[in-house]
Amino acid sequence: MTMSRPLSATTSYERLAAAGVRAQLARIEELVTSTRAAVDAIASGTVDQSTLGALAANVIPRWHFSMLNDRERNDAYATALERQVVPGSHVLDIGSGSGLLALAAARAGAGRVTTCEANPLLAEVARQIIDTQGLTDRITVLATHSSAIEIGREIATPADMVISEIVDCGLVGEGILPSIRHARRELLAPDGTILPQGAKLYGQLMESSAVQRLNHVEVACGFDVSLMNALATHGHFPTRLATWPHCALSAPVELLSFDFTRDVPEQQNRSVSFEPTTSGTAHAVVAWFELDLGAGVVLRTTPDNTATHWMQAFLPFPAPVEVAAGRSIEVELRCVSTRLSATPTRVCTEAPSTTQEATR
Ligand SMILES: C[S@@+](CC[C@H](N)C(=O)[O-])C[C@H]1O[C@@H](n2cnc3c(N)ncnc32)[C@H](O)[C@@H]1O
Repeated sequence: MTMSRPLSATTSYERLAAAGVRAQLARIEELVTSTRAAVDAIASGTVDQSTLGALAANVIPRWHFSMLNDRERNDAYATALERQVVPGSHVLDIGSGSGLLALAAARAGAGRVTTCEANPLLAEVARQIIDTQGLTDRITVLATHSSAIEIGREIATPADMVISEIVDCGLVGEGILPSIRHARRELLAPDGTILPQGAKLYGQLMESSAVQRLNHVEVACGFDVSLMNALATHGHFPTRLATWPHCALSAPVELLSFDFTRDVPEQQNRSVSFEPTTSGTAHAVVAWFELDLGAGVVLRTTPDNTATHWMQAFLPFPAPVEVAAGRSIEVELRCVSTRLSATPTRVCTEAPSTTQEATR
């Protein structure tokens, strides 16, 4: 694939973007080459482990394995399903992965399970695993995104229960908000059950130059390499907080609350006030979630829970902020579809009762 004419390049950012486009096109060409090799292997009947490995490297995130080995997660979902699936009912599972939740719903007594998976390779894996379990007659796998499902086309009637586990470390990163919103409106029976039924995001002010340096650089070997920061993420990214030096500067506070049994806005802006308990340099808000699976089952990804595969979400500030114990700091928390970000707006530097502009 070639560009018909060079992109205009008048500023440094435009040159960076033009180079980014070339890098992306090169990646697409690599994907085309690897796709052709897989198509040839299928046509010649020579598919082997290396063919699948090459495809998986491109389209399957590694976390599927740690997720499937997360007993706390698996047991919580299995228990919640055992307690809530109505025998004989129709369950719609959004995001099959290996088919695990669809299998658990069938074991819990669902009469019929429809499970959809946007990734065709995973959908096929789920199909074959379900077949191995002898449950093909009760579980239907649709290789499609849930938003493409229509009543009367892919499924005959609305589901009695919609289940999903499409949450990343920051809860919203895998698209749970738009997917549940669509499913509630279009695919769930009026008196149907949604699982998870709600979630809360918690967070605290964090000093950790070690984690900040996973996404920020100034000088290396005496050279200013800070232009690299143009490529840093402004949204949340995963970090196993317990494995990095860090210092919590405030108590945890509730950041956002979601009730999936109602329409949840996909965009939320909230000013959150933190009361530092320790003076220091705040680099970020570190966030984790509580996922309410109903019937008393709750999953928590608190920093001290190192058993779960979910890490914490690091929401880096645009620039570190000095905070003083007892002097509040206001942080603008933004949740835009699949991304969380945090920006300090006001830091109280004089006395607990006054505020002034943040030093950023
Ligand atoms: C975190 S995995 C969970 C897999 C499985 N449900 C489990 O719990 O083991 C989520 C899967 O859902 C798929 N997915 C996410 N959103 C989806 C949607 N709206 N429709 C269909 N598949 C979706 C992803 O491709 C991914 O394979």
